[in-house]
Amino acid sequence: MSSEHDVMPSMNNAQSSEQLAPQPIIQTFSLRKTYRTGFWLNKTVTSLQQCSVQVMPGETFGLLGPNGAGKTTLLKILLGIAKPSAGRGFLLGKPLGDRSAKEQIGYLPENAYFYDYLTGWEFLKYAAGIFQIPAKVQKRRIPELLDMVGLDRKTAKKKQMRRYSKGMLQRVGMAQALINDPKLVFLDEPMSGLDPMGRYQMREIILSLKEQGKTVFFNSHVLSDVEIICDRVAILAQGELICEGTLDQLLGGTETQTYQVRGRGGHPPTLSEQLTDVDIQAEQWHGQLQGDPQKFLTQLNQMGGTLTEMKMTRQSLEDFFIQQLRQRGIHTSR
Ligand SMILES: Nc1ncnc2c1ncn2[C@@H]1O[C@H](COP(=O)(O)OP(=O)(O)O)[C@@H](O)[C@H]1O
Ligand SMILES: [Mg+2]
Repeated sequence: MSSEHDVMPSMNNAQSSEQLAPQPIIQTFSLRKTYRTGFWLNKTVTSLQQCSVQVMPGETFGLLGPNGAGKTTLLKILLGIAKPSAGRGFLLGKPLGDRSAKEQIGYLPENAYFYDYLTGWEFLKYAAGIFQIPAKVQKRRIPELLDMVGLDRKTAKKKQMRRYSKGMLQRVGMAQALINDPKLVFLDEPMSGLDPMGRYQMREIILSLKEQGKTVFFNSHVLSDVEIICDRVAILAQGELICEGTLDQLLGGTETQTYQVRGRGGHPPTLSEQLTDVDIQAEQWHGQLQGDPQKFLTQLNQMGGTLTEMKMTRQSLEDFFIQQLRQRGIHTSR
């Protein structure tokens, strides 16, 4: 796909681009960020350390982590808003903070500030002006974006943003993030504060960005949204990336695999020991098995029982997330 090749910094001709593997659209090496805090600025807080991430073109990447983990800090460094204390990184083949890369980036901040007395339309015109988008293009793009994010054109033209609901503001924010038709979109907690319908709609918008071939990097502590949307996730805790991979890689490991099993006969007390959520009624039973299915089958055979159904199920991302944090002694209130 041409969008993959566009991110290569030193490409001379189409032929050589065919031979090269796609380059990451985001790549960081051991980023670290410390802030000075306290009245005398005599204390330091380490918000990020040893942070190396890689995102490929077209991927939807979810950065998960509890509050205070360092997600926004990483995003700000990627966007060039904050400078790393150590480490380096590249965005669209350019060093972090490079101006020419910014033109191809969209950003929806966490708790974005909107100008209360502007209408949504005026705000989008203002955002388009920052990117020096010609008036003719604006005329076409603004209504297109409003349709895409599901905001009524008339409302956007007439109503000042102080009268918008949280969901409407997030939609305007999303339209603003896309005003320059970016290749790479950063979304900081895009679902926060939305009701279930708003979350669903935001999810649909993100999925449509993916269909358009855009790369999406988004921060969230809302696991279920990440699970549905993302190709790849990383978990950040106390400033460090503790794991990273596709959902299949993270949740499909043998030690985390669960099987729904159903059968007849056998020895109920032993079955109760080996299965969780077990339900035994007369001869029939069903439950969940975690661990080696072969071993279970052998034991069931020895007990004189029969297996009638076995389905593999995945651990939820939420369970995985909590387990990863607990293993590191981090307790969340979730
Ligand atoms: N400008 C700042 N000055 C001092 N500390 C900060 C600043 N920004 C963030 N931090 C600290 O860095 C840590 C990570 O914050 P943040 O990146 O906002 O986390 P998240 O987005 O995951 O909730 C927190 O402990 C926060 O207090
Ligand atoms: Mg944050």
